Amino acid sequence: MRGIILSGGSGTRLRPLTKITSKQLLPIYHRPMIYYPLNTLIKAGIKEILIIVAPERAGDYLNLLGSGREFGVKFTYEIQDHPEGIAQAFLIGENFIDNEDVALILGDNIFADDFIEEIQSFKGGAKIFAKQVPDPERFGVVKFDEKLKAEKIVEKPQAYLSDYAVTGLYIYDRRVVEAAKSISPSGRKELEITDVNNWYLAKGELDVAIVKGEWLDAGTFDSLLRAQNLAKEKLADKMVI
Ligand code: DAU
Repeated sequence: MRGIILSGGSGTRLRPLTKITSKQLLPIYHRPMIYYPLNTLIKAGIKEILIIVAPERAGDYLNLLGSGREFGVKFTYEIQDHPEGIAQAFLIGENFIDNEDVALILGDNIFADDFIEEIQSFKGGAKIFAKQVPDPERFGVVKFDEKLKAEKIVEKPQAYLSDYAVTGLYIYDRRVVEAAKSISPSGRKELEITDVNNWYLAKGELDVAIVKGEWLDAGTFDSLLRAQNLAKEKLADKMVI
């Protein structure tokens, strides 16, 4: 299993904090934000990790993270010229993925749970993780049927669909590159990860697990503050990096 951390974008919602740096380099208690998703991948035993960054911040990431040797892993870097969607990670990362399974994690997503078992036992298709939230309209949302099987996934639904947000950790088999190539940009001109998930759902190969512990995307002022507190209270002493 290879890992990808998508850490580009312009962080406009966090201006002026992100005027001179990348959102995912902002401090979360005692570590830069990206250490948290990196920790999730490294803890799960992933050794080859692609870090996708915006061109103007590439030097900062290289200075901060280096080759990966310090963490016992190998980093590869790629540039995303424009933030044209999460699913673009699989086009940028096609050579890196090289016909292996891949776990993608967003650089601003912070999980209290470990995913060691989920990642190590992955057997193909797609596996994503959902969490009940009070503000599902901010996220990709999954609707389950009576048997708790995913029925549909909608990106930022305007009408209420369910309380289950799709979190920013996704595991796919090698066909994810084909899936990403087959989708078109959405109304917001992005290659949507939700469309990739629906590609697998249509084939009956999408597995949705529920996240038990806390989960945050640290993309707003309020969630950034919550992430700081969560890190201090529950995460800091469990990190391996
Ligand atoms: O956090 C989970 C949510 O992430 C999911 O529930 C949604 O389905 C998914 O679309 C995404 O929603 P957001 O609207 O929150 O995504 P955002 O544009 O904020 O991007 C999430 C992170 O990925 C952010 O740290 C920046 C990075 N990113 C995003 C895009 C679109 C990139 O590096 N490049 C990109 O092209």
